[in-house]
Amino acid sequence: MTSPQVHVVGHPLVQHKLTLMRQKDLSTSSFRRLLEEISLLMAYEVTRDMPTRLIEIETPLETMRSPVIEGRKTVFVVIMRAGSGFLDGMLQVVPGARVGHIGLYRDPKSLIAVEYYFKMPHDMPERDAIVLDPMLATGNSAVAAVERLKETRPRSIRFVSLLSAPEGLAHFHAHHPDVPVYTAAVDRQLNEHGYIVPGLGDAGDRMFGTK
Ligand code: URA
Repeated sequence: MTSPQVHVVGHPLVQHKLTLMRQKDLSTSSFRRLLEEISLLMAYEVTRDMPTRLIEIETPLETMRSPVIEGRKTVFVVIMRAGSGFLDGMLQVVPGARVGHIGLYRDPKSLIAVEYYFKMPHDMPERDAIVLDPMLATGNSAVAAVERLKETRPRSIRFVSLLSAPEGLAHFHAHHPDVPVYTAAVDRQLNEHGYIVPGLGDAGDRMFGTK
């Protein structure tokens, strides 16, 4: 059973596009385009309860008070490098958002996530953070990234991934039970190399054509 902190975005358009992305012969450009389209659709779900405020506007007929979102108070946090593929679709929906970046690599000996880049807006305590990483596999980098992000004290944190492994979700929520995860699918398991199966392969390589 999935936890209440895991939101699977089951919209048919998302599921259809994900099926196309999983197929191994898809071109790099199609993979990139579909990831952007899915991220735009997932942005609707992750921003569903975003705070709004009323502003006064004039329609051609009357003056009225009407809601607008506090887009300036959102920060998208990209986990490099694959998280960047999720950004453009999100920014189409929330164009006023700021963007932070976290770069981590896995030390080959200790297997510990090591930070090589970290840049956030200065006013994080006023912002709702939406962390972007298409693959929640072991969860190690997600756990480390959110741990580091919490040091900046954002108002709230959500995590968005395209595909998740059950092991990664369990690991992530063991460390961050307060952070909801939005994902398009929870696949069967991780294989012995840490890949999600059935999965879609290496998201970064498929996005950038670097295999
Ligand atoms: N990262 C990927 O890109 N793919 C996986 O299956 C696991 C981690």
